[in-house]
Amino acid sequence: MDFYTLENKNGLKLKFTNFGGIVSEIHVPDRDGNFADITLGFETLDEYVDHNNDYFGALIGRYGNRIGKCRFQLDGNKVDGLLANDGVNHLHGGKVGFDKVEWKAEPVSGEGYSGMKLSYTSKDGEEGYPGKLDVTVTYKLTDKDEWVIEYEATTDKPTVFNPTNHAYFNLAGHDGASPVDHEMMINAKFFTATDDGGIPTGEILSVAGTDMDFREAKVYGETVDSEDTLISQLGGYDHNWILDKQYGELGLAAVAFDPKSGREMKVFTTEPGVQFYAGNFLNGTLTGKGGKVYQKREGFCLETQHFPDSPNKGHFPDTTLRPGQVFKSTTIYAFGVR
Ligand code: BGC
Repeated sequence: MDFYTLENKNGLKLKFTNFGGIVSEIHVPDRDGNFADITLGFETLDEYVDHNNDYFGALIGRYGNRIGKCRFQLDGNKVDGLLANDGVNHLHGGKVGFDKVEWKAEPVSGEGYSGMKLSYTSKDGEEGYPGKLDVTVTYKLTDKDEWVIEYEATTDKPTVFNPTNHAYFNLAGHDGASPVDHEMMINAKFFTATDDGGIPTGEILSVAGTDMDFREAKVYGETVDSEDTLISQLGGYDHNWILDKQYGELGLAAVAFDPKSGREMKVFTTEPGVQFYAGNFLNGTLTGKGGKVYQKREGFCLETQHFPDSPNKGHFPDTTLRPGQVFKSTTIYAFGVR
């Protein structure tokens, strides 16, 4: 296993390893041209193998986010062998998810980008999921200062699939002032309400008039400790917003902006949802690059995805993948300054 670095013509850098597809460094400039590494992470492979408990930078699968009570039905068949690793629920693919496996890495390049294609075959029954799943994830760094992620997969039996990437960002720099002072905009009129374990109740609620409303950019630290039970019961923002765009179309999910440095990150995706996780469970137990100790909320995630617990929610967009179908999904993190 190894680390790889992509660099574009503007000097932006994306460093990652084929262990878990983990992105360990992202170097982008501020409005004065000063570069900072804006993703949380460790320095060595050993640390990632040993204790990447918060999924820094990692690929997540087979099912990103939660499946309630570790079970679901598919075509009338019960799938109930998933690991309970988040209370009574299943989170981020189980014990050895995509974040902890070795991916095959092959360089790719084209007009205006360089990249790496990561491939992994998940065996039939792995972590309790049916079907042998062949997955490729391509990371690209473009000359337009975008980190592009393209997911593809096929299966030999009906299964469910919902991959994402779990990078934590701090646009001030991973060791800079807390990102709770960033402005956040999320392109969503609705969100999926959950119980206190983060499992959707099935209700689709309007953000209007609530602290879940990010249609206009606002400093998220001002409402992350909202007394709204739907927020406080999860310890802060850790929710799935339903993106206001056509299903399957590549469109805007969110914009994060650090007024001090001027760094901005726009997120585009073909996915119908985004989990904005404010890093509420970071608690100073992990020491990252350069000895930085990551405290509560010192990084946030924008995990593009289908909705949590979709396999148990018939009215949510379907996460079933069938033999003969090719799963395709694209997410773009575009960096700039204001
Ligand atoms: C979840 C959080 C969880 C975190 C693990 C996020 O995707 O929504 O609840 O604690 O992953 O680092």
